[in-house]
Amino acid sequence: MSVVKKKGSAPKAKPAVFRPEVAVCPTAQSLIEEAAHLFLETALDAVSKRGRFAAALSGGNTPKGFFQQISEEPYRSLVPWHKTHVFWVDEREVPLTHKDSNYRLAEEFLLSKVPIPKEQIYPMTDGRKPAQEAAHLYERTLKRFFGGANPPKFDFVLLGMGEDGHTASLFPGVTQLNEKDKEVVGYFVDEARKDRISLTFPVLNGSRLSVVMVEGEKKARRLKDVLEGPSDPPRFPIQYLRLKDGRLLFMLDSAAASLLKSVSR
Ligand code: 6PG
Repeated sequence: MSVVKKKGSAPKAKPAVFRPEVAVCPTAQSLIEEAAHLFLETALDAVSKRGRFAAALSGGNTPKGFFQQISEEPYRSLVPWHKTHVFWVDEREVPLTHKDSNYRLAEEFLLSKVPIPKEQIYPMTDGRKPAQEAAHLYERTLKRFFGGANPPKFDFVLLGMGEDGHTASLFPGVTQLNEKDKEVVGYFVDEARKDRISLTFPVLNGSRLSVVMVEGEKKARRLKDVLEGPSDPPRFPIQYLRLKDGRLLFMLDSAAASLLKSVSR
């Protein structure tokens, strides 16, 4: 599968512009296949080095094809599910069976189809408590699992990008963009008209690998702003992603990358 690499890679010093590593796949399906392969590689590496694999998943539409891909062979047999621990990047404060639940999306298309022990799945909420309380409880879940590491260090974080440039449940203009102490926040998101719970940027930037999967023409304009325009994180929150010592990788299909100048084809 030909993956076109963009020149440059994750910058070392904090740049005035946001120029993360970008990989472009010809189609949405090849993007899913590449992401699935990277997930498997990362899982095997984590288990061989640390005896376990900690992944945090996003919701929305994009991850559905990816979930289906890694729920099927050969991934169903090759991923070390018995050593895999699944967390969430963000969640809507709704019951786990609600159509908008990110947990339900992963449960339906992935977790119900692979042999991952139930006790290794950590939903962000049960939808029956205030978002702030759910966020506080999830921080305790993270501390228990990561042994108080500050920030917790995920092996694989799957992110998406909204058409407004948000990621996780960190939207333009909210004060939670600048949260430096909390690892998880819960708040009412005007734009989404819902209570949301979200990992904060200190956690997203503390991971070993954060993969931003973006596909489709609809995202092309915003991606050009984010990847080739000036750095303006308050306006495009995804630009707050600056991994300290991990790898940040934008994985795009050619439709989403169609307006990018700096991607060699
Ligand atoms: C959520 C996601 C959110 C998502 C983007 C992109 O809970 O909605 O975590 O951050 O990744 O909104 O969503 P799509 O994949 O549906 O375009």
